[in-house]
Amino acid sequence: MKDVFFEARIAGVKLKNKIIRSATHEGLADADGNPTDALLGKYEALAKGGAGAIITGYAAIMQNGKSPLANMLMIDTDERILYYKKLVDRVHRYNTPIFLQITHCGRQTFSRVTGRPTVAPSSIKDRLYNEDIPRELNESEIYEIVENFASAVERADKAGFDGVQLQLSHGYLLSAFLSPHMNKRKDKWGGTTENRFRIVKEIMERAREKVGDFPIIAKINGYEKSKDGLKPDEAVLIARYLEKSGCDAIEVSCGIAEEGFMALRGDFPFDMIAKHNHLMKRVPRLLHPMVKPILQYYFASPEPRHLYNVASAMKIKKNVSMPVIVVGGIRNLADIKHIIRNEQSDFVSMAKPFIIEPDIVKRLMEGKQPESRCIDCNYCQIGIEKSPLKCYYGKI
Ligand SMILES: Cc1cc2nc3c(=O)[nH]c(=O)nc-3n(C[C@H](O)[C@H](O)[C@H](O)COP(=O)(O)O)c2cc1C
Repeated sequence: MKDVFFEARIAGVKLKNKIIRSATHEGLADADGNPTDALLGKYEALAKGGAGAIITGYAAIMQNGKSPLANMLMIDTDERILYYKKLVDRVHRYNTPIFLQITHCGRQTFSRVTGRPTVAPSSIKDRLYNEDIPRELNESEIYEIVENFASAVERADKAGFDGVQLQLSHGYLLSAFLSPHMNKRKDKWGGTTENRFRIVKEIMERAREKVGDFPIIAKINGYEKSKDGLKPDEAVLIARYLEKSGCDAIEVSCGIAEEGFMALRGDFPFDMIAKHNHLMKRVPRLLHPMVKPILQYYFASPEPRHLYNVASAMKIKKNVSMPVIVVGGIRNLADIKHIIRNEQSDFVSMAKPFIIEPDIVKRLMEGKQPESRCIDCNYCQIGIEKSPLKCYYGKI
């Protein structure tokens, strides 16, 4: 059924409608990485507000994969299962399915935060997270990461989640393995697409041994900006490999952190960056007017600002039979209807619209408004470096 507000399924999981809350880091884990009551409240609001399904903010599978953003979720030990159970139960009260997004941040973090060396497929410095040069992972470390991802999937299953989402997007560790820009390895983990995909294949195999047909979905990049980054044809190939490995659905995004506002687009939030960003702390205030155009040149959003992953989602959809979810600059009901009715994607997902209005789906469904009130100021993205997620609506 092609209607936006009819229920639909992903790997047997019943979604209330075809609008999903895409993974959004809330910065509301406790100091140890467990979900807090405040986070439970946020998810309750999303579930009450009509989201078809919720994908959590990213949770790290091990300590050296932790993000530098404040209060990230962790899913690295069995003791955490109890905390996550409470979160799942709260959301399930509203018959809303919830998927745990799991990740390893790879080179997009700092060793001063993780207390461990920063690691990546290849030893290439990140333009943004540039305090450390990441160390190239050796084979036994790669297998340890595979095992930790599989254990995280098993924990999500035990906690009652409806599924997990592997984060293969935005430049984090698995995304870095897939990307020719970040993976320059000469061994069986680099080179051809098949080799760069190997770590994901190993994770899928090991996870399936542990959890059988528990739903596993993935978020990938449909393309990257850098010359040697992932391109659409290769993303299609990766989607096909994912399906072959037993992946249940694929969410299509784009871009890596050092490319700036690629994955989430809109205004370049210079004032917010000047106030909060760790790199700007090193720049005297007097120099800000000179720094602004340089930063804008490298990091401002390219055009278009809306619907910028629909073309890659369509391309992927033509080549796989698993459900496809498209994310990125989706802001109004007319566009959502067009995407779903024309089978450009099976589902849509949004992140920023749910920050300003957790009940955006209900509002769209009840005809209270035709579109999100989000103005894409992107202050939320900078704010989460230090504080819990909130909508700033363009004001510091
Ligand atoms: C504050 C904030 C936090 C985010 N956290 C995550 C995350 O934890 N995992 C992830 O895959 N994407 C994350 N994203 C990216 C979104 O899921 C989404 O791909 C992107 O914002 C584009 O969708 P939108 O235009 O609907 O916001 C985040 C985005 C924002 C604005």
